[in-house]
Amino acid sequence: MSKDVYILGIESSCDETSVAIVKNGSEDIATVVLSQMDTHANYGGVVPEIASRMHVENITMVIEECLTKANMTMDDITAIAVTYGPGLIGSLLVGVVAAETLAYVYNKPLVPVHHIAGHIYANNLTKKMEFPLIALVVSGGHTELVYMKDNYCFEKIGGTLDDAVGEAYDKVARIIKVPYPGGPLVDKMSYDGQDNYSLPTPLADGSYNFSFSGLKSAVINLVHNEEQRGHEINKADLACSFQQRVVDILAKKTMMALENYDVKNLIIAGGVAANSGIRTRLKELCEEKNYNLTIPEFRYCTDNATMIAAAGYFAYLKGRTSGLDLKAKANTVLE
Ligand code: KG4
Ligand code: ZN
Repeated sequence: MSKDVYILGIESSCDETSVAIVKNGSEDIATVVLSQMDTHANYGGVVPEIASRMHVENITMVIEECLTKANMTMDDITAIAVTYGPGLIGSLLVGVVAAETLAYVYNKPLVPVHHIAGHIYANNLTKKMEFPLIALVVSGGHTELVYMKDNYCFEKIGGTLDDAVGEAYDKVARIIKVPYPGGPLVDKMSYDGQDNYSLPTPLADGSYNFSFSGLKSAVINLVHNEEQRGHEINKADLACSFQQRVVDILAKKTMMALENYDVKNLIIAGGVAANSGIRTRLKELCEEKNYNLTIPEFRYCTDNATMIAAAGYFAYLKGRTSGLDLKAKANTVLE
């Protein structure tokens, strides 16, 4: 039997300092996530300078805590995987430098992982991914449809032309005065409301691209107009109407991709994969069409290092290692 592979993953692309150890790309041995959310909530969004400083303060402690939790030492680790981009450059740098240092000191291979590859491979922690597949990646920074013929072969077939879906959720939350990050609360509120507001369906064309800025602006204008008229907004109804439009378009284009690419496996990835509207709708549609749907557990939807270590395993098997001169990249395409 071949030897087990233990990947230590590091994720610091935004406001979570996270370190995890994953066995053979699928088994979570230990995960530590230190979220800075409470700090950034005071500012209504992530403040990059504060985020990178907090990563610097915490990274060593989080690495140590993860090893302790796993009851392992660096000698037990096969390779080190790290998010090199995309994300906030100052935040990414902290994780990359930590990974390079560990790789140098302990003489371990260094495996660069694209943040979106991490979100996609979060699914492998739930169920072994089967190919070919379509991945719907929905997060605070991304909205993409990705076709994967095989492990670690990514073909982006569509993406957002402006705002990411999570970003639109957070902005809508802000306008209806829901605290940051508003996505989960808007999702929750939508269940107490009715689809009573007339909002546009964004970019309902035959492409695999998305656009959420028009829908977001429509919500902002509606709220301002109602305020000027002295009318009260029904927040639950507005959340419901917004969520309906978002779910409609995401589901429509995802199903279109599955059909046109003749693919039977769908995975959802990213923070917005936690959205109950999206989960429910795609579950129903996939049952109807007999497609296999995998959605990560909630704790693996938002940023974490477990997904980075899982993706890192497959990148490592493909020989996608890097020298110790690995650079953090704020913008980088998934390939
Ligand atoms: O993947 P993630 O942790 O960070 C990025 O890589 O961007 O995603 C965070 C985003 C935030 O915009 C947050 O509001 C959104 O995911 N989000 C949700 C839900 N849970 C998290 N949006 C809608 N419904 C949810 N249940
Ligand atoms: Zn993310």
